[in-house]
Amino acid sequence: MNPSSPLDRAPDRTGSDSLKWSRYAGRDIIPLWVADMDFQSPPAVVGALKERVEHGVFGYAVATPETTEAVVRWMQTRHQWTIRPDWIVWLPGLVSGLNLVCRAFSDPNQPIAVNTPIYPPFLTAPTLSGRPLVRCPLKREHAFYTLDYERLIKTLSSSPLFLFCSPHNPTGRLWTKQELETVAEICLQKNTLLCSDEIHADLVLESGGKHIPAASLSPEIAAQTITLGSPGKTFNLPGLNCGYAIIPNPQLRKRFLAVMRGIIPHVNALGYAACRAAYTEGAPWLAELLDYLRDNQNLVSQTVTRTPGLSMSPPQATYLAWIDCRPLGLADPAGFFEDAGVGLSDGAEFDAPGFVRLNFACPRSRLAEALRRIQKALSDQTF
Ligand SMILES: Cc1ncc(COP(=O)(O)O)c(C=O)c1O
Repeated sequence: MNPSSPLDRAPDRTGSDSLKWSRYAGRDIIPLWVADMDFQSPPAVVGALKERVEHGVFGYAVATPETTEAVVRWMQTRHQWTIRPDWIVWLPGLVSGLNLVCRAFSDPNQPIAVNTPIYPPFLTAPTLSGRPLVRCPLKREHAFYTLDYERLIKTLSSSPLFLFCSPHNPTGRLWTKQELETVAEICLQKNTLLCSDEIHADLVLESGGKHIPAASLSPEIAAQTITLGSPGKTFNLPGLNCGYAIIPNPQLRKRFLAVMRGIIPHVNALGYAACRAAYTEGAPWLAELLDYLRDNQNLVSQTVTRTPGLSMSPPQATYLAWIDCRPLGLADPAGFFEDAGVGLSDGAEFDAPGFVRLNFACPRSRLAEALRRIQKALSDQTF
């Protein structure tokens, strides 16, 4: 384990308009819920933002060729995916992207497919768009999740759109090439549009693991895929609202842009500046971050393994641990841990009551204290 890292010294976030920290303001509860990190963004990003703020003019913004090129280069060098600048449609957030895709690429009576458990906006996007949601639960064996192909084939037979999460939030699965090829094959066979949310693409923790963009598998699946991406999770910029959809198929892109018009605001000037700096200069910082997250992940996995009643599979990607508490028989596990001084995400919101999601992207000492509180609460409790 790395003995000391600049990431150990994260700033105090109280009073900084933080969604994560304001939930428990004034209470001794360590917030490990919503998926942002407690770390500062890379110094290069902070420097670029300072420079942009110093300029002092904050008019309407547009992506410059340098910003778009930064995304193109990142996809090439990081993910070996060759994309063209005109495939990129900038978005102020990927949740907007998910909702937009539902409205643009299905009719009101057509069910939209998602795997469960899943990041909650996948569950709400179809229904908020007035479409039925159809669940395709993942299989779980020894705490490890896999895709249920038979079920997927059946589900996609009646669904024009599959909202897919890769890598997967909350289970942390990094889908293999073979799994992705099978998903692509089923989508092509069923003529189902694949919307692949790859916001966690850069956060691969598994040794030797590699994220593969679904659309990079073949020209055929690229023509039937909308990929959602962002520097938001990777460089801890989600509050700057800068993301994008990558849409190689011109007809799909045209439709997407038409449905966006007048509804989706532009990305702002600070978001573009941060994105450009992150993708151009952020790679060394990201390497350090991933090492730090791997050590944090080990700490969580070891603690969970030692704690009777809890189980998890170490996330292959993301900074999220998906913990099964069902053997404890708690009516409200998230409430129980909150009472113990740790704020986790409630699995029920992900369509999996009895689970909790723990965000371990925080300084190690804070994580260790949260884990100590969890263990103490469970050992004090008589089940
Ligand atoms: C899979 C996934 N998609 C989208 C988002 C949110 O994206 P945005 O903040 O760009 O709306 C998250 C945040 O946790 C996520 O995990």
